[in-house]
Amino acid sequence: MRKATKTAALVLAMTMAVSALTACGSGADKTTGADVTGTENAEAAAGTETADTGAADSAEAADNAAAVTKTEGVLTFGTNAEFPPFEFVAASGVIDQYDGIDIAIAKQIAEENGMTAAIENMEFDSLLIALENGQIDAAIAGMTVTEDRKKSADFSIPYYTATQVMIVKEDSDIAAAADMADKKICVVQGYTGEICVQDMGYSYEAFKKGTEAIMELVNGKCDVVVIDSATAQKYVNDNEGLKIVEDASAFESEEYAIAVKKGNTALLDMLNTAIETKLADGTISELGAKYTEEITAE
Ligand code: ARG
Repeated sequence: MRKATKTAALVLAMTMAVSALTACGSGADKTTGADVTGTENAEAAAGTETADTGAADSAEAADNAAAVTKTEGVLTFGTNAEFPPFEFVAASGVIDQYDGIDIAIAKQIAEENGMTAAIENMEFDSLLIALENGQIDAAIAGMTVTEDRKKSADFSIPYYTATQVMIVKEDSDIAAAADMADKKICVVQGYTGEICVQDMGYSYEAFKKGTEAIMELVNGKCDVVVIDSATAQKYVNDNEGLKIVEDASAFESEEYAIAVKKGNTALLDMLNTAIETKLADGTISELGAKYTEEITAE
């Protein structure tokens, strides 16, 4: 029952019309990528559109693909595989040892466009720099669209709606975000959870990985961890004695999208077409349900 409810909630979040609310203080919105200014990729973009209208002939798809990625025939995604159920390292995943909702989406998008997907695992903070450097073609990492990040990358249409939540010990007296005022707060460095807590004016300690922040909480060295909802659910399932506290008035909804290098409109068009289809035909909600089941079954 509990499991079914959680799964239903995730599926609902997946299929819900993406909200126009902003992530707390980060100014996320859903109009990213709409104002196309670059012209250098116009030819490639036109080619992509031609392919979209016909039943995708894979040779044609591969031709178009060559124009949008750093290595012909390969779509290289950067991620930070420390964020279940979106990306994590497994004994064997859908791409090498990488598994999760984002990894499955990445693989499908590449294959549907006549390419293979490659994953480069790096620190979350390095993803936008890697895009700028041309080290990766796209970043798929449960990444929330924020005004700040839009300055250094272009974002696809959103594919998932999330929110920040608080993870506390089961006997904690924290019932709302304001209760964190005199508590020891842990966040993950560079995540929107850190931005939220910063905006609230609270002091905190930042860790490199979610699991490190959770260990601090489990060991009684901190009182609360602020992190994204679905990942929080995974940590609570994995660790005895923890619970999730939500505060919708303090943490507004956030939207996850795929980031590309600024001006790579050809790749952005390709990603948007794929995401649109996968939202409409239920693929993304199915992946959400599948990876949540796997998590709750562990
Ligand atoms: N949604 C949050 C953000 O964009 C956390 C994302 C963390 N993702 C990851 N793959 N480690 O800041």
